[in-house]
Amino acid sequence: MNINWIRKQIPWIKNNKNKIYFDNAATTLKPKCVIDKISYYYTHLGINTHNTDSEFCFKVHEKIEIARKNIAKIINCSPQNICFVSGATEGLTMIAHGLAHHYKKAEILLNDFEHASNLLPWYHEKNHGFFTIKFIDVSKWFDEKRIIEAITKKTKIIALTLTSNVYGNIVNYSQLCAKIKKINKDIIIVLDATQYLAHGWIKQLKNIDFIVCSAHKFFGPFGIGFVYLKSNWIKKMQPLKYGGGMNEIITKKNFHPYNNIQKFEGGTLPLAQIIGWQEAIKFIDKIGIKNIFDYECELKKYFVKKLSTIKNLEIYNSHTPLPIIIFNYKGVNAQDFANWLGTKGIICRSGLSCAKLIKNVLKVDSFVRCSLSIYNTKKEIDYLYKIIKSYKKGDELKKIL
Ligand SMILES: Cc1ncc(COP(=O)(O)O)c(C=O)c1O
Repeated sequence: MNINWIRKQIPWIKNNKNKIYFDNAATTLKPKCVIDKISYYYTHLGINTHNTDSEFCFKVHEKIEIARKNIAKIINCSPQNICFVSGATEGLTMIAHGLAHHYKKAEILLNDFEHASNLLPWYHEKNHGFFTIKFIDVSKWFDEKRIIEAITKKTKIIALTLTSNVYGNIVNYSQLCAKIKKINKDIIIVLDATQYLAHGWIKQLKNIDFIVCSAHKFFGPFGIGFVYLKSNWIKKMQPLKYGGGMNEIITKKNFHPYNNIQKFEGGTLPLAQIIGWQEAIKFIDKIGIKNIFDYECELKKYFVKKLSTIKNLEIYNSHTPLPIIIFNYKGVNAQDFANWLGTKGIICRSGLSCAKLIKNVLKVDSFVRCSLSIYNTKKEIDYLYKIIKSYKKGDELKKIL
């Protein structure tokens, strides 16, 4: 794999020569092919698909449907089951809203590793009289066995992230979903694949009801993502958005929504982003998702090996495979430390990174998170190591005070 070639594809790297970008779990940098495609849409096409009186509409429509097909490939499903949304947050809100109206008093299993976007939509529905929420006990660590143990006769929905945005784990989804459905085939499984899809595609859809993701987490544009809905849900579930593009008939009394995926795509879609997103997928395909995964695991191992030799550094997730690493420098406030690293050109993140319940597991109020991607290098990790090694008590306050 040619890391130099990959780095050359990312204009941000060239334009920010003295910076190291270690915040890829927040968003990845964008390759030129994605930026160019978005620009191409606005400079050559620029027309809304709803304008069926112009040839442009048909051209754009065709491109959107080709993109849908290319995007659907990453989870091995039919494009007919992919609904475009603004991202994982909207996707999970749509699912929680749709299921709430179906299963008013359903019990849902959640856990402390979830991102706010896979907690609050369910809380919101609960606060409006739907759902009861039960937390899986993951107090020791995230463990798939715990999920199985938590299932009771009351369990109706399990919503789960495949890769935590702070932990860097990978849930063995095909095995887990098969076990869940074996206990009760009617349990609805909602998978948040937002982080996972940056490192692997989904091959086995059997047993999964819903999948959500955001394109910007894996080299795509902001403001676009998808919800995969198993076919039965397309017919059964209520949409979140009502308006143009999702209705077949409107009378003075009522309306009929479409009975296909369009039903969930009310309003104007972010057309340029959809067209741009498929270029991100082509970019990944060119490198090979397995090559990406292998390289990232190597970076993680290198990072842990090197940085765990620093006496005062406490790493919380050394053993997980993906290159998301959370740590604290003993006795130093995480935000101050991350700010100090920022003054040295290292862009990372501090806090709880939207996974606020994880503090119940880790027993810390905040940490520094470094999350790496395919364009990061061992040399960059060496630089981080050198900087942290050079840290002297109080350094973090010098620029701040
Ligand atoms: C695991 C996970 N789920 C959901 C989200 C929400 O994604 P978005 O803000 O793009 O909707 C994120 C973003 O950090 C995430 O990491």
